[in-house]
Amino acid sequence: MWSFLLLLYLGSVQCDYKYDTKYFKVPLDHFGFQRNETFNIKYLENDENWDRGSGPIFFYTGNEGQIELFAKHTGFMWEIAPNYRAKIVFAEHRYYGSSMPFGNKSLDNEHIGYLTAAQALADYAKLIDYLQGGALHPRYPVIAFGGSYGGMLAAYFRMKYPHVVVGAIAASAPVHMYPGMVPCDVFSRIVTSSFKIANAKCVENVKHSWPLIRKYVANATTSEWLHKTWKLCDPIKDGKDTDTLIQFLQSMYETLAMVNYPFPSDFLVSLPAQPVRVVCQFLNESLTDEKLLEGIGKVLQTFTNYDGKSSCVDYKKGSDYGNLDASGWDYQACTEMIMPMCTTGKDDMFEPSPWNFTTYSEDCHKKYNVYPRPDSARIEYGGDRLQAASNIVFSNGLLDPWVGGGILNSISKSVTTVVIIDGAHHLDLMPSTQSDPASVQMARSIHRQNIDKWIREFREQWRTKP
Ligand SMILES: *[C@@H]1O[C@H](CO)[C@@H](O)[C@H](O)[C@H]1NC(C)=O
Ligand SMILES: *[C@@H]1O[C@H](CO)[C@@H](O)[C@H](O)[C@H]1NC(C)=O
Ligand SMILES: *[C@@H]1O[C@H](CO)[C@@H](O)[C@H](O)[C@H]1NC(C)=O
Ligand SMILES: *[C@@H]1O[C@H](CO)[C@@H](O)[C@H](O)[C@H]1NC(C)=O
Ligand SMILES: *[C@@H]1O[C@H](CO)[C@@H](O)[C@H](O)[C@H]1NC(C)=O
Repeated sequence: MWSFLLLLYLGSVQCDYKYDTKYFKVPLDHFGFQRNETFNIKYLENDENWDRGSGPIFFYTGNEGQIELFAKHTGFMWEIAPNYRAKIVFAEHRYYGSSMPFGNKSLDNEHIGYLTAAQALADYAKLIDYLQGGALHPRYPVIAFGGSYGGMLAAYFRMKYPHVVVGAIAASAPVHMYPGMVPCDVFSRIVTSSFKIANAKCVENVKHSWPLIRKYVANATTSEWLHKTWKLCDPIKDGKDTDTLIQFLQSMYETLAMVNYPFPSDFLVSLPAQPVRVVCQFLNESLTDEKLLEGIGKVLQTFTNYDGKSSCVDYKKGSDYGNLDASGWDYQACTEMIMPMCTTGKDDMFEPSPWNFTTYSEDCHKKYNVYPRPDSARIEYGGDRLQAASNIVFSNGLLDPWVGGGILNSISKSVTTVVIIDGAHHLDLMPSTQSDPASVQMARSIHRQNIDKWIREFREQWRTKP
């Protein structure tokens, strides 16, 4: 009871959406005929408001994680479904959550090869065909929704299967982040500018912290002080630990920028409203030495322990914070989803770290025995050459570092864009709250207008079907 009241008091977005958990059998390999195994993908379904005669299906193209997480945080679909008398489906991406083709061995090198975006889209198409009753002339218009990688999938789904989905809301989809398309430091520059908006001193302090951290860990006494002050689970023993810690910090700043929502959220980790502004309060004046590192320590505590559940900072855990469970993503990033990332230390607040495809590629080979194909996603999905596509809305928030790989200018009459000036990572798909800026309310209203139009067009076509 207490926690319920507390959540209300915080105005937190804790919605209790109801759905049935179902499973659907899909082929392991949609594109070849020699492997004939099948396995189950999970999907979540809600028919409560559905008009079974001709109501639409709102279909979330699951991304890299357990699907329940996306169902919980995609309030937009739940909020508009009653008006449309729509069925809601959240489909889990193969190789994530419980949609594992080879159980707990799925991520082993000999089994992971069927983890591709194309296979996942083919799963979704097959599931929708089943939901349409295998009809030659399906009667239910299907709208694809997705955020982030899920947004890329929603857009790709409409491009590759226009006969299956009538349109796609692709939120914060970095479809333009592939090699050669944008400078590799665009992401880190936007992270930095999100922090600068909160407080310019904050950026200076973070910038100055890196050499200081390296200095402190090089000395046994000060290293021990840092270990204690930052409440690290493990001491920093060597250069490898130092790099791991620095990567953890960098990824912390990146995540804070991504989930810089106007309300408290537990999307990736549990955080207060406007987390960037909150953590920058600890770094709001020019700090040096212990004071600076103590400030960074407070940022770390806010990030790792806002809910008071963790006793120490597990910096060796890496950037998979637990809510997402996205271990398969590393393989996708090593095969087709190559998004070059670098930092320069000039226009961003990080230590310089160039993008080196050779070492990236060798690391992938070591880990998965595969070499990445840097051009394959561009060739397969077209980057931003989407003049031949239709009925896709790309929405992006300017506070979100992924906007650097997003499409910001409309491509045609029916491949359009929505820019949310004060929005973080797919804020428009999140449950609405009283703290929503006008820009995101506007974005949602544009989404609804497009959905109306796509459904209307579908019904006109259906009535006059040959
Ligand atoms: C799958 O392939 C195996 C070996 O080629 C064969 O024995 C089996 O009958 C096939 N199963 C199905 C369901 O087609
Ligand atoms: C993997 O699954 C098998 C069978 O379900 C189980 O016996 C085994 O303990 C699991 N291994 C791990 C590491 O979870
Ligand atoms: C390590 O730091 C301590 C405390 O600042 C200092 O007294 C000591 O001289 C340093 N040791 C070395 C080897 O630099
Ligand atoms: C920094 O934040 C602290 C705590 O919120 C506040 O007391 C202090 O006045 C702020 N300093 C500046 C320069 O704004
Ligand atoms: C990338 O790394 C490799 C191996 O460490 C090195 O030989 C090469 O010069 C680097 N390339 C660039 C462009 O920095």
